[in-house]
Amino acid sequence: MTDAEASAAFDCIKDDLVAAYVKSGVELSGKYQGWNRYSTVPYLSDAHGLRYVHNYTNDTGSAYGKYEDAGDMPPGTLAIKESFVLSSDGRIGVGPLFVMEKHAPGTFPDRRDWFYSMIMPNGAVQDAKAIQKFCNDCHIIAGDEDDNLMFLPD
Ligand code: HEC
Repeated sequence: MTDAEASAAFDCIKDDLVAAYVKSGVELSGKYQGWNRYSTVPYLSDAHGLRYVHNYTNDTGSAYGKYEDAGDMPPGTLAIKESFVLSSDGRIGVGPLFVMEKHAPGTFPDRRDWFYSMIMPNGAVQDAKAIQKFCNDCHIIAGDEDDNLMFLPD
């Protein structure tokens, strides 16, 4: 998809994304689209299963917008990535909501105090130990310098 097509696809599906995620009962699902958004158009994220994504944070995490100069994010930061998929026959569908929540210093020392989760299109929440490892094994590459954050493509 071109940027214009990806934006048009997002306009069609953005309410369906929220409708899917709120089934989880997780409060942020109904709120995050009103938060700070950093991506200007949905972009294809290889690392998250070749889905189109937008990136958001809550106000606590607004330093995210300084990207590599952001420093350590404060506890209470929620970094969110919503996603949608384009199938080979041209249909668009809901993908998972990817969530990183920053906890108090020392809570999860092996992952810089981030808790990772996915809210699936059917509202199921995946946040088991294996998910923590799966997400962190890649995000840790960004490491201490960027507080495990990968930011956006230029
Ligand atoms: C193979 C590497 C990889 C894996 C695995 C991965 N991510 Fe990411 N993540 C990235 C990259 C690269 C970016 C930034 C660019 C992009 O969106 O593709 C990113 C960005 C994010 C962001 C926006 C905050 C930031 O880092 O800038 C969130 C939220 C996120 N990922 C959540 C998750 C969750 C939750 C999981 C596990 C279910 C996960 N990621 C698994 C590589 C990965």
